[in-house]
Amino acid sequence: MRVLSGIQTTGNLHLGNYLGAIKNWVKMQDEAECLYFLADLHAITVHNDPAELRRNTREMAAALIAAGIDPERSTLFNQAQVPAHAELAWLLNGTARIGWMNRMTQFKEKSGKNREAASVGLYVYPVLMAADILLYQATHVPVGDDQRQHLELTRDIAVKFNADFGREVFTMPQPYFGATATRVMSLRDGSAKMSKSDPSDMSRINLSDDSDSVAQKVRKAKTDPEPLPDTVEALEARPEARNLVNIYASLSDQTLEQVLGQYAGQGFGQFKPALADLLVETLRPITARFNELRGEGAELDAILQRGAEKARALAQPTLDAAYQALGLVHATSRAT
Ligand code: TYM
Repeated sequence: MRVLSGIQTTGNLHLGNYLGAIKNWVKMQDEAECLYFLADLHAITVHNDPAELRRNTREMAAALIAAGIDPERSTLFNQAQVPAHAELAWLLNGTARIGWMNRMTQFKEKSGKNREAASVGLYVYPVLMAADILLYQATHVPVGDDQRQHLELTRDIAVKFNADFGREVFTMPQPYFGATATRVMSLRDGSAKMSKSDPSDMSRINLSDDSDSVAQKVRKAKTDPEPLPDTVEALEARPEARNLVNIYASLSDQTLEQVLGQYAGQGFGQFKPALADLLVETLRPITARFNELRGEGAELDAILQRGAEKARALAQPTLDAAYQALGLVHATSRAT
């Protein structure tokens, strides 16, 4: 079992990232060899200020460590320090089909109405993601539900490459989803995903928010006037209520049924303060550690450098095998 996952370098984590992915990353450190990386090469598919990208990469490393990723146990690095990601992505561009790319819903969402003006990088973003995963023969990829289609594409690319060149170059990866919170929704709109790109900061809980803002955001979260029901089915038509119950369940490692067992019949006047307390309690140590670490630029750089060294060595055999399978004359034993 080899676990791999990545996150874009946006400088801050929100509750969706944490519950949908990072919490599982942290747990999996006890069970398997884990590689976690900052997807800075993905970040450049939209325009970024270079100084900000650099700062965000460090901040994100600090945020992941604060959330519980242990760089002594897991390989933590940023993509740009491991050229094999970009190289393999190019090799896989010969296997990925335009028809497959055209089905990617995230490209459609991210490119918006003006698709012609989107970068080519944004279009082939999922191929780089396939390269990230296949390069390390990852078996399990802990992600939120919004990455499901990209994981399917990764498998399609691996199957076609292995079949076209008659060798098992790539291992078939499986997505890994947590029991709850695979989709954390906006606090203002239960039909939209909690996201860093939402213009309203009230729509999301950031891991850097202080206790007062967390409590205020929960208090102001959109809900309905009904008390909480006693069955999960009764939550189906109430997306905002469902989202808050889901967040509570995930934070407290319970099922939705268990949470409803405790709160059925109670209104949001009771449930929201309980949720706010639980959130504050969970986030307080993470935020405190994040604030401590974010000032330690040199130490963070050293951690990423050490991680990248390990990652380069792990990636090289697969990259070589891919070059060979394609019949490319390549440098077999480049220094890692
Ligand atoms: P990114 O940076 O958008 O998000 C990082 C992780 O957080 C999850 N996530 C959510 N989960 C539940 N509810 C939400 N509202 C929510 N918002 C975000 C995402 O599913 C993801 O797991 N393309 C990836 C980064 C990436 C990657 C990879 C992931 C690049 N290469 C290889 C896995 C393997 C992305 O943009 O995630």
